[in-house]
Amino acid sequence: MTVKLVNQPLASINADLTLEFITPQEFLRHPQKEILLMAGFKAEEEQICTLHEQRLLVCGINDLSDELFRSTMTKAITSAMSYGYKSLKLSNYGETHFKALIEGVILGSHRCDEYKSEPKPSTLTEVLFSHEDTNGSAGSNLEKILHQTLIIAKATNFVRDLVNQTPYDMTPQGMAVTAESLAKSNNLKCTILDVNGLMDEKMEAMMAVGRASINPPRLIHLSYKPKNPKKTITLVGKGLTYDSGGLSLKAAASMVTMKMDKAGGCAVMGIIKAVSELGLDIEVHAFVGAVENMIGGNAYKPDDILRAKNGKTIEVRNTDAEGRLVLADVLGYAQEKIKSDYIFDYATLTGACMVALGPYTTGVMGHNEELKQSWLIAAQDSGEYCGSLPFNRHLKKLIKSEIADVCNVSSKPYGGAITAALFLDNFIDENMKDKWVHFDIAGSAYTESAWDVHTYGGTGAGVRMTLEWLLKLQQGLQ
Ligand code: BES
Ligand code: ZN
Ligand code: ZN
Repeated sequence: MTVKLVNQPLASINADLTLEFITPQEFLRHPQKEILLMAGFKAEEEQICTLHEQRLLVCGINDLSDELFRSTMTKAITSAMSYGYKSLKLSNYGETHFKALIEGVILGSHRCDEYKSEPKPSTLTEVLFSHEDTNGSAGSNLEKILHQTLIIAKATNFVRDLVNQTPYDMTPQGMAVTAESLAKSNNLKCTILDVNGLMDEKMEAMMAVGRASINPPRLIHLSYKPKNPKKTITLVGKGLTYDSGGLSLKAAASMVTMKMDKAGGCAVMGIIKAVSELGLDIEVHAFVGAVENMIGGNAYKPDDILRAKNGKTIEVRNTDAEGRLVLADVLGYAQEKIKSDYIFDYATLTGACMVALGPYTTGVMGHNEELKQSWLIAAQDSGEYCGSLPFNRHLKKLIKSEIADVCNVSSKPYGGAITAALFLDNFIDENMKDKWVHFDIAGSAYTESAWDVHTYGGTGAGVRMTLEWLLKLQQGLQ
C-alpha cells in the first residue's frame, strides 16, 4: 500500500474513491444527507456507507480522538479493500489525526495470509492525503509525520509477519537468520551465540529450557550505534519459538497459538529496525533469547536446580514458567556486555497478566514510578494500551525457595504477572534497578479476533509505544 501526501485540494486529486469522516453534527448539513439516510447511514460511531455512484465512502465518527480516527480508518480501509477500487483519497484532518489515519491504513490493511495457497491480493494500492500547502511549513511537518509514521507502522507489520510464522518455519536458528538479514539491510551489528557460546557464557538456565528440542537455542545481539549517541538503551525480548510447556505440558487448547511466545523477541527486532531507519541519536542494543520449549528424554524437569549467568540458583517447579528462565540469563548477559542508561524487556510472560488487565493491555512493571509513568504516557500517545501492576514486599516472598536462591513459580495462585516480574528482578544488577522496566505482552501481542488496527494474528505490541518513548528521549523530553 502506497500512502502519499498530495499538494492539491481534495476535489482536484484523481482517485477512484473519496473517503470522508463525518460527525453527527456535520451530517445534518451534508450535501448527500438524504441519500445517505435512505441507505441507513446516521453518522453513528464507526458506521460506514459507500455510495458507489458518487464514488464516496463515508464513516461516522463521534468524537474527534486519535483513537477513533485510527480504528475507523481501519474499518474504512477494510471496506475499500473489499470493493475493486484501486485508489482512495481523503483530507489529512490535521497533524495528530494524520498520524492516526496513516496507522489505520498501514496497520489496518495488513493481513496474515502468507500460508494461504491463493492469497487474495487487494486491488487497493494507493491512499492519497490532500494538503494545500500555502506557506510551506505545514506541508513539511506533515511530510515528516508521514515519513516517521510509515517507518514505525511498517516495522510493526514486520514484527507481525515474524510472529505469524509457524514454529516449523521460525525456529531459533530462523530467528538468528532473520536478525542477520536485518543487520545486513539496516547496517546493524549482529552477534549470534550457539549452544557452545551459551555454555562458555555459563547460561545454564536458557540452555536447560532448550535442551529437549531438536532446534537448538540461539542468543541474538543486534546493535545500532550512531556517531554521538545521547543515550544507550538495552532491549531484551523473550523469543520462545514454541512453548509446549515442556514436561509441565500445556493442555491441548492452551498450546494452540504458542508460536506467539516469540513476540517479545520479534518486537525488539522491529524496534531496532525502526530506530535505524529513523536514524535516531540513541544507541540501541536488542537481545533475543531464541529457544524452543519441548518435551523429551533429556528435557529439563520440575525439581531441577539451575545456575543462571549471574550465579543465582533457581529451583524449577514448573517447566512452563520457562520464559523467566531464558530472560534471567539474557538479562544477565546483556548487562554484562553493555553498560546502558535503561534496560527494557518485552515478554509474553504470563497468562496471569491477561487475567489482570484483559487481552488488549500490556502490563508495565518495575521499581521506578516516574519511569513507569513516562511509559504509560508514551503508550497512550502511541495508541497502545498499557497498565501498571504494582510490586510489594509480600509478593516477593512468594517466590522464595527452601533449597535454592529463588523458585521459578509462586507459592500462591494470584498475582502471577507480578511475581514473574519479581523473579526477573533477581537478575537485574543493583545499579540498574531504577533503570529497568518489564513489559508483559502476553495479552496484547496476539489476537484471534479483530480489534482496533489489528486483524488476526500478531499485533506488533511494544513497537509503537517504544518508538514514541524513544522519540521523546531523543528530543530530551524523557
Ligand atoms: N508463554 C506462557 C504465557 C502465555 C500464556 C502467553 C498465554 C500468552 C498466552 C508462559 O511461558 C507460561 O506458560 N506461563 C505460565 C506460568 C505458570 C506456569 C506459573 C502461565 O501463565 O500459566
Ligand atoms: Zn510457558
Ligand atoms: Zn512461554
